[in-house]
This record gives sequence, C-alpha cells and structure tokens, in this order.
Amino acid sequence: MNPLLEKLQPYPFEKLRKLFADVKPNAAYSPISLGIGEPKHPTPAFIRQSLADSLDGLAAYPATAGSDALRTAIAGWLERRYGLPKLDIASQILPVCGSREALFALAQTVIDPRRGDALVACPNPFYQIYEGAAYLAGAQPYFLNSDPARNFAPDYRSVPADVWERVQLLYLCSPGNPTGAVLTLEDWKELFALSDRYGFVIASDECYSEIYFKDEAPLGGMEAAHKLGREGYPRLISFSSLSKRSNVPGMRSGFVAGDATILKKFLLYRTYHGSAMSPSIQSASIAAWNDEIHVQENRAKYIQKFNEVTPLLAEVLDVALPDAGFYLWAKVDKLASISDVDFAKRLYAEYNVTVLPGSYLAREAHGINPGENRVRMALVAETAECLEAAKRIVEFTRKLAAN
Ligand SMILES: Cc1ncc(COP(=O)(O)O)c(C=O)c1O
Repeated sequence: MNPLLEKLQPYPFEKLRKLFADVKPNAAYSPISLGIGEPKHPTPAFIRQSLADSLDGLAAYPATAGSDALRTAIAGWLERRYGLPKLDIASQILPVCGSREALFALAQTVIDPRRGDALVACPNPFYQIYEGAAYLAGAQPYFLNSDPARNFAPDYRSVPADVWERVQLLYLCSPGNPTGAVLTLEDWKELFALSDRYGFVIASDECYSEIYFKDEAPLGGMEAAHKLGREGYPRLISFSSLSKRSNVPGMRSGFVAGDATILKKFLLYRTYHGSAMSPSIQSASIAAWNDEIHVQENRAKYIQKFNEVTPLLAEVLDVALPDAGFYLWAKVDKLASISDVDFAKRLYAEYNVTVLPGSYLAREAHGINPGENRVRMALVAETAECLEAAKRIVEFTRKLAAN
C-alpha cells in the first residue's frame, strides 16, 4: 500500500461524528445542521431541463479537454465577470469534474517529489484537500496561519526565505473557506512577487466567488493578474465551480484557467487520470455559465439570510458579516469561556444544532491552532431554519454565560 495514505487526517465531519457519538441530542428540538458546507437552495429548473435534454450525450466518450462550446461558455463568463481580455479556449481553459478533484490533481502535476524537500503552502484554517494533495504528491504542507487582525490574511512576510525556496505550490482560497475573506489587489501583488522570485505555482481556489455581501464582487486571481499587467497569467491557475454558484454540487462541474504551459501538462495528466466531464453535464454547464439571473437570485437569498442571522449571533458571539462565501466564522468565547469543541458538543446535546469546531478545520502550526475557539456555521438552509438555529445559539450562549 502507498504509505503516504497514512498521513491523511480524518475529514472534519468524521471527527464531528466521533465527538457526537455518545451524545443524545435534546429531542425537544428538531435537528438543524449548520455543519456541512453543501448548498441547499434548489437547482434552477432550466439547468435540470438542460441536463434532461442532453441525455444523448451519455452514448459518447467525452474528450478530457471538453467541448469547444463549453470552453467558449467558460471563457465568456471569465471575460464578463473579471473584465479579462479575450482568452484562448484551446490553451487557457480546461473543464474539471468539480474544483475538488482538480485542486487535488494539480499537485500531482506540479510537484517534483525528487527534490525531497518539497513544500505546499496553504492557508490555515483551510479546505482539507490541499493538505491531502500535498502529502500524496510527496510534499509536506506548510501552514500559513490566518490572522484575524488582517481580515484573516496570513502574514506572508513572516515566512522565512528558506521556506519559500522549498515551496513548489501555494494554495489560496478567496473567498476563503471558512473565513469568507477576499484577497485584495495588494495581497495579490505581494503573492505574485513571491511567485516570481521563488518560482512556485499559485492555485487560486475561487469556488465561493459569486456569493458575496459587499457592493463589489470579489476580486479574482486572473483579474488581479490582468490589472497588474501579468500577461499570460504566469504560474497562476484559477479554480471555479458551478456547485455553489448554481446550486448543482451533484453535477460535479467546474473549470481551471490560467497559465497555458501548466494547463498543457495538466491536460496530459488528466488524460491518464481519466477526469473527463460527461457530455450531458457539459451541456447543462454551458446553460449555467451563460446565465446570470439565477446567480443574482441565489446571491440575494444569501444576502437576506446573512443580514438577518448575523446581527442576532453577534449579540453573543464574536462574529461579523464576511466579505463572501456562505459561512460565519465565529469566536465562541465572547461571553463565556468555552472551547470550540465543547461549544459544538453541548450545543448539539442541549439544542440539537450542529456547528463545526474551528480547530477541526485547522492544524496546530507556529505554536497555535488558528481555528481554536471558533466555530464554522454554514448558512445553507432556508432563512427560517437558520434564524431558528441562531435563536437557539443565542439562548445557549446566554445560559453558558449565566453559569
Ligand atoms: C474551499 C473549497 N474549495 C473547493 C470545494 C470543492 O467544490 P466543488 O468540488 O464542488 O467544486 C469546496 C467545497 O466545499 C470548498 O469549500
């Protein structure tokens, strides 16, 4: 067996299942889960219809590079959304079966394990795939702790030069899961300068880009590169997805775009790996990328939900409206001294509400676990259910504070 598999950590939800194993939730309350970050708004009817109309596609093997029509639709979306100059659909875009598999597979393509000391840098807390991708590619993860004082951005300047010299791949997540923070143009400038200096590839995970709460849409990696005059997007690969944008997590549809030299090798890798998107899913994806109305409606629902729920929770937790995404990343010890793990366990036992302990989403690095004393709440259910959860959390926290 591959010994590197031993390095993989249980997924946060497995840890949660273990934590809850001996807990009997209070049956006086209906169960509400804010635990899993899975979109729950309904899939738009026109996407379902487009998929149903495309079932003939099941009779053909798809090309790994996808159809020209899909890559044209994706290019059009990128150009409109980020104000990019015309993209070359033959070399700068590839469809992927959800961003998760592609985030994993890129590490297999980019990392040279023969160097022996390879590092993959990623934010902390983070989406667990980055860590597994690093280990299975023969590298070690290097965690960049998010700093609440810098809107959760890590302090890249604190990373020693001899570490950057070993970094072959840097994962970024903007908007961030779980923090909801969006990288600024200044952040990108600094990161591109580091990539130029040390030669590492940047994998920019942007799957929450269409759910945002401020007037301005989140800045994308390719948009930042374009604004900074970086023609051809050197060493940058951006990842996007329909899962959250269009409420189709089961369709497994996304794309990567950016540096054509890297994408050429990535296509080669993917051909052997066998990650080609079903022609039927490609057709439904074209319909989805070409429509913005459902995206605006989806965003409006999240805005209303977050505007109603956040102020309630802010009475008892240290929490604020994020830049984007569908998570609240709350500090739980504002009124009472309690750990994130105890908070989640007791909230489940006493009020039947599930939240994810922040420490499960982060690793101890540089002397701290930056997820400690925080919980992640995914506001994916309909507003009424999220409000009911928030009311129970307020009652629970006030009770904690009183004791
Ligand atoms: C930060 C982040 N990246 C990527 C993904 C994967 O999304 P998908 O594979 O559905 O595109 C997720 C899913 O939850 C995520 O939270």
